[in-house]
Amino acid sequence: MVSVMKGKFITLEGSEGVGKTTNAAYIKDRLAQLDVECVVTREPGGTSLGEKIRSLLLARDSEAIDDYAELLLIFAARAQHLARVIRPALERGVWVLCDRFTDATYAYQGGGRGVPDASIAVLENLLQGDLRPDLTIILDIDPETGLARVKERGEFDRFEREQLAFFQRVRNAYLARAATDTQRYRVVNVARGLPEIQSDLRQQLDQFIQRVQ
Ligand code: TMP
Repeated sequence: MVSVMKGKFITLEGSEGVGKTTNAAYIKDRLAQLDVECVVTREPGGTSLGEKIRSLLLARDSEAIDDYAELLLIFAARAQHLARVIRPALERGVWVLCDRFTDATYAYQGGGRGVPDASIAVLENLLQGDLRPDLTIILDIDPETGLARVKERGEFDRFEREQLAFFQRVRNAYLARAATDTQRYRVVNVARGLPEIQSDLRQQLDQFIQRVQ
């Protein structure tokens, strides 16, 4: 099906403890100030089915989840999310701000678990066709500091329980992707105070809006 996407698709990425929730709220407010209607959603999740799959993925269970079972669950949630939320919004001209998307799969399942990028790309192409985010903001921090922040919040979920080396691979995968397309990816250093982070985010957003209008 050929469809014309009118809204813009922004994704927010990063390893653990980078402050995605606070920064997503800031981006939504900035877009509202600029009169841009925007749906804020997340992955895995964003639909009733997707949230159930999220619970399966984050739960700490005694049975280890196979890397490919994990990958397919993530893409099952994504298929539903694309069909029910993301594509309909973009087609209506509404912008979508998604807390994690397929770059997280390349970072966590690819970089973290070692699933080949080519396998991820097969599923990406199958489900997304040529749909890719218009702007991807990667919130970046060294994983040690990020994990210390997560620890303050309480118990670790199934991903957060991984070792530091896993998150170093996740971060490296994000940064390697960012280096391939400096137009689409913007890396924001979040090892700073909130005012500096938000001023950086605002600048990136304003530049993006100027570019696409
Ligand atoms: P969150 O903590 O940012 O809500 O994300 C939940 C976890 O899901 C996070 O640890 C990263 C993981 N995840 C993947 O491993 N692959 C993916 O494609 C996505 C979207 C998330």
